[in-house]
Amino acid sequence: MTTTIFHAQVLDTPEDPFIGGELRAEECALAVCEGIITFRGPLAQARQMFPDAPVQHVPGLLLPGLVDTHVHFPQLRIIGGLGMPLLDWLEQCALPEEARMGEPAYAAAVAEEFLGGLIQAGTTTALVFGAHDAGATDTLFRAAQAHGYRMTAGLVVGDINLRPDLHTTPERARAEAAELIHRWHGHGKLRYAVTPRFALSSTPELLEACQDSLHEAPGVMMTSHVNENLAETEAVAELFPRSQGYSDVYSDFGLLSERAVLAHNVHAPVPELQRLAGTGAAVAHCPSSNSALGSALFPMRDHLQAGVPVALGSDVGGGTGLSLFKEGLQAYYHQQLRPDGLPLGPEHLLYLATTAGAQALDRPEVGHLSEGMAFDAIALEPEAHSPLAAILRHAPDASRALAAVFATGTSADISTVWMHGEPTPSRRPQPTSSGRTPSESTAFDDAVQ
Ligand code: GUN
Ligand code: ZN
Repeated sequence: MTTTIFHAQVLDTPEDPFIGGELRAEECALAVCEGIITFRGPLAQARQMFPDAPVQHVPGLLLPGLVDTHVHFPQLRIIGGLGMPLLDWLEQCALPEEARMGEPAYAAAVAEEFLGGLIQAGTTTALVFGAHDAGATDTLFRAAQAHGYRMTAGLVVGDINLRPDLHTTPERARAEAAELIHRWHGHGKLRYAVTPRFALSSTPELLEACQDSLHEAPGVMMTSHVNENLAETEAVAELFPRSQGYSDVYSDFGLLSERAVLAHNVHAPVPELQRLAGTGAAVAHCPSSNSALGSALFPMRDHLQAGVPVALGSDVGGGTGLSLFKEGLQAYYHQQLRPDGLPLGPEHLLYLATTAGAQALDRPEVGHLSEGMAFDAIALEPEAHSPLAAILRHAPDASRALAAVFATGTSADISTVWMHGEPTPSRRPQPTSSGRTPSESTAFDDAVQ
């Protein structure tokens, strides 16, 4: 078993900043063996403990791998369909593309583009909406396995109010989910999530089938959409008149628990939020998508006051890209614009994009870079002549540097992505022991030691 020592300027958020946790910024060494961080501390001590281990000096900043709690695999190629509210966008943009997933070669190509895009964006863990087609969803799992990707995903199901070619039946939904669960759930880093598209495309019988799928194996998750758009919420209230609110529909069918993640929830009455908090389900906040589809500004204060866990989702292709830096910035904007908005600092944005996501997805092994955690990490090393590189060179402290990463950072600023200790091929050479040291690449080292 070989150990590698990574020496870097490490930024992470092991403690929740919404309840007093702070940004942890340290120049330190991480010893990694078999993908796990076995030591975190001073470089000299790491060298003493592991005298034979090679030392990699990571230039720039080392951050935990990012966690996307809501993203659609079949929508990668339709990012950028602007100018429509949700239901029009689904009909004109998203669902026609999803219908193409029945063609195996098409689905396989999109799966590669999708996983490549996630990894490039520094997203090392994701909860993914698969396709309505079981074969395409299987292809997604196979591609994720080949990349060693930490993914939870599921077959998307609906039996009304979609295009007829996307409709399933409760029996078929049950059978196809069972097969996918037995093939993929718990294999390596893969997990299954029961995925009714939304209540509006579900009969009660389909939601009952989803409940059965949830019990097919221990640890199966559930994900769906909720309270995204007013026309949608009104239609759901008509379709399920016996449920108290939109999220109650899922709860009434036994689908909500700590292992459920509902996306959006921008039109959530406070009493409904309080009931939702009682289920333990988390909400994936997808700010770019909420702006692009003109949905609404997210009531983050209400969620946190009610005790509903919140993390970030890109919601590609309603969202406008896979970068969670952009989602963090948009989350910040939205709270700036709401009269009751929560002031978010860079530590909140990093927490939402990492540790909060890991908790929502029940992946306690990732989210921050502490001893015992998996080494899923990203090196932020902007091109030397870019504005971000100049900002990082002159940043007075780690917090300002991190704020600039969220304000201006893109996938192009990430030089290396490690998944479970393995570096993924990147566009630029990986940092080596002869590379620049962390203290040569940022201005604020003294301030954060
Ligand atoms: N509601 C039902 N399906 C979708 C989808 O694909 N994207 C978004 N943003 N909302 C949905
Ligand atoms: Zn979505």
